[in-house]
Amino acid sequence: MWADEVKKLLIEEHEDAFYSVAYYETVDSTNEVVKRAADAGAREGLVVIGEEQTAGKGRLGRRWESPKGESIYFSFLLRPDFPADHSAALTLVMGLSVAQAVRELYALPVWIKWPNDVVIDGKKICGILTEARLVSGEADLDYVVIGTGINVNNTSFAPELRDRATSLRIALGQEASRARVLAVVLRLFHRNYENYRQTFDLRGLITDYNSLLVSLDKKVRVEDPKAPYIGISRGIDSTGRLLVEREDGSMCRVATGEVSVRGLYGYV
Ligand code: BTN
Repeated sequence: MWADEVKKLLIEEHEDAFYSVAYYETVDSTNEVVKRAADAGAREGLVVIGEEQTAGKGRLGRRWESPKGESIYFSFLLRPDFPADHSAALTLVMGLSVAQAVRELYALPVWIKWPNDVVIDGKKICGILTEARLVSGEADLDYVVIGTGINVNNTSFAPELRDRATSLRIALGQEASRARVLAVVLRLFHRNYENYRQTFDLRGLITDYNSLLVSLDKKVRVEDPKAPYIGISRGIDSTGRLLVEREDGSMCRVATGEVSVRGLYGYV
């Protein structure tokens, strides 16, 4: 079972003290499993892998199709010691970790589509859904759940996803190892998270993030519902906002979740 291999690899990577891995054949959503465990007192570092999800959740209330056998669906629990308004950037830390892991293992030209999709050849291989719970009545975080779906060995996608989704297998032309991908993602996330915790922002990760940003120094369209505009992406700042230089030379800072940013010719 591939989750046992993940556990073995985490021991080899000396990450077994931080993470504890639980594997389920079928779950509603790994985010929901981790939230229930967190409410019952689970400790930071719990990783829940689902072989399939019957109610996989995407961002903006969308569904995340989660058939068994090909992809990675996992969520893990953090109990951060910083204020809630610093938690949105953790999604960027996860996107960075997935992109770095794929490059480390397979040397594929993988990029980050700000804020948190990971893409190859202009198509998505990874989506991330972060959910936070506050201590009741306060601005402090009780916990954060980071849920990630990675298309590893998918050979085809539903017609509506076909021109926007791809997998490591399609990009490589051969099978990839779900266990190795997940173990390296977890190792890199832990390293990047420790970096983030030193300053409670992304200043120590900006260079790495921007070097993998698919839009860097390219034209993007900011889909601001009030007034969409075109500018040049200049990378993120330490809070995770995307800097977009407008034609008049002014710099806009686009916050995550506020508006979508696209290249001029399609999804990326
Ligand atoms: C997106 O819309 O891009 C985010 C997709 C997040 C999917 C993952 S799969 C594991 C975890 N459990 C869920 O229900 N969703 C996330």
